[in-house]
Amino acid sequence: MLINKDTIIKDTDPKIREKSLDVTLPLSEEDESLLRELLQYVIDSTDEEKAEELNLQPAVGISAIQVGIPKKLTAVVVNDYDKNGDPITYQYMLANPRIVSSSVQKAYLEAGEGCLSVKDVHEGYVVRNARIKVKAFDLCTNQEIEIRARDYLAIVLQHEIDHFSGILYYDHIDKNNPFSHPSDATKI
Ligand code: CO
Repeated sequence: MLINKDTIIKDTDPKIREKSLDVTLPLSEEDESLLRELLQYVIDSTDEEKAEELNLQPAVGISAIQVGIPKKLTAVVVNDYDKNGDPITYQYMLANPRIVSSSVQKAYLEAGEGCLSVKDVHEGYVVRNARIKVKAFDLCTNQEIEIRARDYLAIVLQHEIDHFSGILYYDHIDKNNPFSHPSDATKI
C-alpha cells in the first residue's frame, strides 16, 4: 500500500469518522503487513530525505483508518526522556490497544496537537489523561503487552486510540475557551 501525503485520508472524508473494529489474533498476513507499513511510514516520515523523496508528512503515529481501513491497528514511535532524564524511544505496532486505566491528573501539549488527517489549523489545548495503562498485542515484540504511559507517550496513544472511535484531536478543544486547562494539569 502506498502511504503518503496524497493517500492518507483527511477529515474532509467522512470515512475518518468511522469506527474501527478489533482484529483477530494471531494477526492475519494482511493485518500484519499493514501494521508493518504503518510503522515504516512513521519511521520514514521523520527522516528528512526520505520524507521529501516519498512525499511524507512527519508523524509520531498513524492508525489504519487514516489509510481507509477501519481496524484497530496503530503504529507509534515516540522519543522522550525516562525518569532519569535519559533519552528513550518507544516504538510499537499495536493491535487492539485499549486503555484499561487512566490517571485523574491531566496533561496537554503546550504547542497543541496535530494530525496527518487534519490540514486546517485548530488552535487550542487538548487536555488528556497524564498517565494511562494500555493493553494490546504488540507486533514489535510479538506478544500481549501492558504499556504504562505517561506524559507525551500517553498523549500520543490517546490520540491514536481516539482514531478508532472516529474522534479527532480538535473535538476535544473547548470552542469557547480553546486555551483553558485544569490549573494542575501537566504542561508538556
Ligand atoms: Co491523528
